[in-house]
Amino acid sequence: MSSSLATVAYIGAIILFILSLGGLSNPETARRGNLFGIAGMAIAVIATVLGPRVTAAGIPWIVGALVVGGSVGLYAAKKVQMTQMPELVALMHSLVGLAACLVGFASYVDTSVQYTGAEKTIHEVEIYLGILIGAVTFSGSVIAFGKLSGKIGGKPLLLPARHWLNLAGLLVVIWFGGQFVAAQDVQAGMLPLLVMTVIALLFGIHMVMAIGGADMPVVVSMLNSYSGWAAAATGFMLSNDLLIVTGALVGSSGAILSYIMCRAMNRNFISVIAGGFGTGGGAPTPAGGAAQPAGEVVPVSAVETAEMLREAKNVIIVPGYGMAVAQAQHTVFEITKLLREKGVNVRFGIHPVAGRMPGHMNVLLAEAKVPYDIVLEMDEINEDFPDADVSMVIGANDIVNPAAQDDPTSPIAGMPVLEVWKAKTSIVMKRSMASGYAGVDNPLFYKDNNRMLFGDAKKMLDEVLVALKA
Ligand code: TAP
Repeated sequence: MSSSLATVAYIGAIILFILSLGGLSNPETARRGNLFGIAGMAIAVIATVLGPRVTAAGIPWIVGALVVGGSVGLYAAKKVQMTQMPELVALMHSLVGLAACLVGFASYVDTSVQYTGAEKTIHEVEIYLGILIGAVTFSGSVIAFGKLSGKIGGKPLLLPARHWLNLAGLLVVIWFGGQFVAAQDVQAGMLPLLVMTVIALLFGIHMVMAIGGADMPVVVSMLNSYSGWAAAATGFMLSNDLLIVTGALVGSSGAILSYIMCRAMNRNFISVIAGGFGTGGGAPTPAGGAAQPAGEVVPVSAVETAEMLREAKNVIIVPGYGMAVAQAQHTVFEITKLLREKGVNVRFGIHPVAGRMPGHMNVLLAEAKVPYDIVLEMDEINEDFPDADVSMVIGANDIVNPAAQDDPTSPIAGMPVLEVWKAKTSIVMKRSMASGYAGVDNPLFYKDNNRMLFGDAKKMLDEVLVALKA
């Protein structure tokens, strides 16, 4: 393939990636967005493999790597549970970071292209920054994977004078950067490069270790952004325009997502990065991590729940992580359909960080064929709770915790929440009194107008459906 044809293919791929991002921003066009992304990536890979920079001798290596990498990816995508998605994503970000580091070292030791003057300086700065971002992304993502999968505790590690440590690390990295660029040959530049890499790896570990469980969603999306910048830096090192643009798209969309999530949790981005928040939970819902008792709870049965739903005119359903674990979305749809046929106004309230990844609930509800027009964002539905007869919370906890509004000392104080307690009756469906992801007690359970339907969400909803049909 000639270089001009490869460039045309790259431009086509870039356009498809942009269309893909546009499509993914709405559930109705998400499938099409995905197809654009797949087509763009296929074109990008083919144009690169057949492009002018790959020699015939390299093709078997690339095909071998594609088969191995593709098989691992296919196996992981088939095996991973939806609720483990953030872990998988964190692991994949670590690979992008690692690739950026390896490409950086390879381009530094590769003397086949000789740079001189300003070009040499620019190339070396690209290498230095590429390895720096790559190493932080790599080690940070590995720690994020450990925290999300529960292999490392969620409690933030707060070293004394940690901000000073980070600042000292930054100054050392800048000083060695000067040494690296001033080095006359590869041997002389290798030491500053290696020292910086070690500091960047330690910084990545330190940064994510200092972040508490409750802030992990933001960290995953922040690492997503870093992995984009690492890819863009790799693009600069390899003079590959497609990689630069794609990396910038991932980097900027990850940064925007981090900002949206910070807003959804009422957190300041800088204080998330500075760490130390969310001391409680960590990792997946701690099994049996019981909350402190704060009053009496009123349990109800599935039959009583069905009665309340049948008599209601307005119902708002708030799904959370537990609905995903129980895979209860199809039964939720059946119940919704039945109630709507009976003339009940059923709508869904979705919190931006419900579940374990952005859009988690929207994906599950779309899979179960719940109509998009009754699935509303938190801001769109929060004012309607006082008019609801029943608010039904399915396996959600932190996102409906009134302590976020009432208790300034709560670790989730200030996080916007769905005000389910303002409905005439709220029903919380979960297995026990255990706390949610943030590991904090939920006063909602003890409110006078709240009822608890204990049990696995799928099992209990099946019973509610049977009772509704009876
Ligand atoms: P959580 O606060 O984690 O609460 C989920 C509840 O579901 C738990 O209290 C659990 O109680 C219940 N549950 C678990 N399995 C169940 C089952 N089989 N049947 C019925 N209930 C079940 O979830 P949430 O309200 O969706 O809030 C999300 C939390 O995760 C937030 O703190 C958020 O910051 C964090 N987070 C979000 C993301 C993103 S991006 N969405 C990523 C990582 C973390 P029992 O054990 O008593 O059943």
